[in-house]
Amino acid sequence: MLKIGFVGWRGMVGSVLMERMRQENDFKGYEPTFFTTSNIGGKGPDIGLEIPPLKDAHDIRALAVQDIIVTCQGGDYTKQMYPGMMKNGWKGFWIDSASALRMEDNVIIVLDPVNRPVIDSGLSSGIKTFVGGNCTVSLMLMALDGLFAQDQIEWLSTMTYQAASGAGANNMRELVAQMAMLGKASAPLLDDPASSAIEIDALITGELRKTSFPIEYFGAPLAASLIPWIDKAMESGQTREEWKGYAETNKILQTKKPIPVDGVCVRIGAMRCHSQGFTIKLKKDIPIDEVSEMIQSANQWVKLVPNDKESTLRNLTPAAVNGTLTVPVGRLRKMNIGPEYITAFSVGDQLLWGAAEPIRRILNIVIDYLS
Ligand code: HSE
Repeated sequence: MLKIGFVGWRGMVGSVLMERMRQENDFKGYEPTFFTTSNIGGKGPDIGLEIPPLKDAHDIRALAVQDIIVTCQGGDYTKQMYPGMMKNGWKGFWIDSASALRMEDNVIIVLDPVNRPVIDSGLSSGIKTFVGGNCTVSLMLMALDGLFAQDQIEWLSTMTYQAASGAGANNMRELVAQMAMLGKASAPLLDDPASSAIEIDALITGELRKTSFPIEYFGAPLAASLIPWIDKAMESGQTREEWKGYAETNKILQTKKPIPVDGVCVRIGAMRCHSQGFTIKLKKDIPIDEVSEMIQSANQWVKLVPNDKESTLRNLTPAAVNGTLTVPVGRLRKMNIGPEYITAFSVGDQLLWGAAEPIRRILNIVIDYLS
């Protein structure tokens, strides 16, 4: 029976992964072992099976007996443990949600609805390290799968509206704490029907600029504001999040001729759905109903939303998509820049298709491959 070790199952991505695996009844047909960095000997997650006490995630011997290791523990853990495992000649499969190994040779970035042939050929050629992609890139590829699959994209610009969850659990809490502070401060004015919106705005702006406003994690107010900077600076003037658009898209698809991808990545006050507005230059003028058909038919999760207000408000918002695997694409139309230019807007849960789901699915693919 295959032995599969899980590390980092309690954090945000890990717990979403556990939840999805329970929903899909995935914990069967192998021997799972759960590892911990802080609670050795403690109790593992409830997976509906008897499981042994938690093992030490830094115990290289306990890790080395696993046929597959799935880690959502984060990049520092990967950098600490992966090189040693490889050096010791471990022959197992390493499945990782962190970005640390993504751009290494002999590593495939996984998003199987989009790059299953790349995964299959990697498996047959002996690749054993499979890593989840950047959430924004994965959600963009899920949304525009049909246009990529049919090689219709000459270049793509994506302007993002990224949720707090992408920055981490503490950031999600901080966003809500900011909202709560604004709500509390403005309650007397909101309760007074005679107060004006300008008064409320002045009060909110005053709160946002107070030194006591909680910005420990974001570094700036996000509630009632936005932050047009995600991750580190690159020499190109891009942020690292923007740089990933080009680098990871082309690595995921293993394009022979790289497709230019660029844009501005912005943090907004959504909880866990990243949204993106696309400007796409097609290789040729294609009628919009054909473009719609290509997008809609690409995979079972993408859902084309008619370009009208009612459908958009009902289906194309983080509030509607949060916690679901659906990737709606709407606001699709030709742009008045020229007949080959289209625009579209998409929303996706960054903890599901953006993080846990590709990991859950590659685990099943590797299990099938080994069986
Ligand atoms: N880097 C992304 C973000 C999340 O900050 O939203 C992880 O892919």
